[in-house]
Amino acid sequence: MTSASLDLDDCRHCRSCDLAKTRQEVVVSRGNPEARLMLIGEAPGAREDATGLPFVGRSGQALDRLLVEVGLSPDQDCYICNAVKCRPPGNRRPRRSELEACRQWLDHQLALIDPEVIVLAGATALEAVLGSKGRMTDLRGRWQRWEGRDVMPIFHPSYLLRNPSTADGAPVALTRLDLIAVRQRLCER
Ligand code: URA
Repeated sequence: MTSASLDLDDCRHCRSCDLAKTRQEVVVSRGNPEARLMLIGEAPGAREDATGLPFVGRSGQALDRLLVEVGLSPDQDCYICNAVKCRPPGNRRPRRSELEACRQWLDHQLALIDPEVIVLAGATALEAVLGSKGRMTDLRGRWQRWEGRDVMPIFHPSYLLRNPSTADGAPVALTRLDLIAVRQRLCER
């Protein structure tokens, strides 16, 4: 067991908000705790809640496909987690109070993994980390700086599933470009 997973053990018993009452599993992370890239999503869905692993449902499969397409291994090159570690009932968006209660774990993960590059998947992750109310359509694909790290906002994979066009300029193609920029940034450093 790595030091990152050891230190996050307390997270699996967290009861800081009401999501603890309805969750099956606390969903901490998957991927490589030594990775230079950390990808942060919103919150677990049903499959994540059942397995205890983030991004393993349809959204996760779409995300993995894109990562692999641009030459990033989800297992080796990424540490994948969510802004909120427990499933909100009915997959509703996490409440501000839940994001705040869970922030301690995200901060812990950021300190342990110490990523050089962060990908924020979707508006909730964007708001959780950057505190930004900017629109995802304006911010995606634009490098941000946060606490000495390069941050790339991308569309959430569930948005890509709802907008599956593969045309140039469509969300899937734009996200592929954003992830290519991420891989290039990692290669440059
Ligand atoms: N959506 C997310 O934001 N995270 C997951 O783990 C699954 C779906």
